[in-house]
Amino acid sequence: MKAAFKTAEKENQRHWDEIAPVHLNSYQSVKILKSGGVPLDEIQLGEVGEVAGKTLLHLQCHIGTDSLSWARKGAIVTGVDFSERSINCANRLKLELSLDAMFIQSNVYDLRQHLDATFDIVYNSQGVLCWLRDLDQWASLIAHFLKPGGFFYLMESHPVCDMFEEDESHALQLTYPYFHLPSPTCWDEPSPDYSDATYISHTPSYEWNWSISDIINALLKAGLALEFFNEYDRLFFKRFPGMVREADGWYYLPKVRGEISVIIHLTRQEKLN
Ligand SMILES: C[S@@+](CC[C@H](N)C(=O)[O-])C[C@H]1O[C@@H](n2cnc3c(N)ncnc32)[C@H](O)[C@@H]1O
Repeated sequence: MKAAFKTAEKENQRHWDEIAPVHLNSYQSVKILKSGGVPLDEIQLGEVGEVAGKTLLHLQCHIGTDSLSWARKGAIVTGVDFSERSINCANRLKLELSLDAMFIQSNVYDLRQHLDATFDIVYNSQGVLCWLRDLDQWASLIAHFLKPGGFFYLMESHPVCDMFEEDESHALQLTYPYFHLPSPTCWDEPSPDYSDATYISHTPSYEWNWSISDIINALLKAGLALEFFNEYDRLFFKRFPGMVREADGWYYLPKVRGEISVIIHLTRQEKLN
């Protein structure tokens, strides 16, 4: 691995360690879990389907809210994240909610050294791909941890989103390239947290951009078959200041609602042998 990528990953780990406790106190999903609910949206619930009794590996699980939601739906869950404080939060939440799940602190790229098992479902969702330096390695790791006939499920913000900045009139301005750049982009301006805008994060983060073909081809090369690929005009977080949260809980861009079908994409892939 390039030395610069190693440094970028270390910085990202520090960044997620910094904001994990902020998220434990501010994520709406924590509140829903504590009140006995399951804070998963209807799209994921419908597309992932019945999980009761199935083994599920959750990559980049952060503070475990989605992992514990699938556990509450009956899945046998293992969550993985490289942020120690995220894993500590996940374990605290697990104990408080009396739910069963195993949380492992590991870089996804080192997971084979920490986990010897295969799973019915490998799950990765909502704000994950930009932190990954190598999608081919990521995809081969998914194939490695899937049982034959199992499936991988991804819900992610559409890469097209990352091409734009919003101006004062909430119009989207084409600002960044779509295609993958060899080096990660560093974000080092103090900025409000996406979950708690009163918290200003002070650690830099490094992000890689990946195109749709980068994502799909990495998974196909690893031996998975594409079962479906969907795009939606709504998002799971306030990506742009002008986004409006509607009664259904999703964030929309009012000016282009229903016109840009690029905000979320989902893929589901099945390993055949
Ligand atoms: C946006 S969060 C995960 C999304 C999750 N749906 C959530 O919001 O709770 C991204 C997570 O990826 C983790 N992460 C980033 N790079 C990683 C890596 N190389 N290995 C393991 N975890 C990583 C971070 O620590 C962070 O917890």
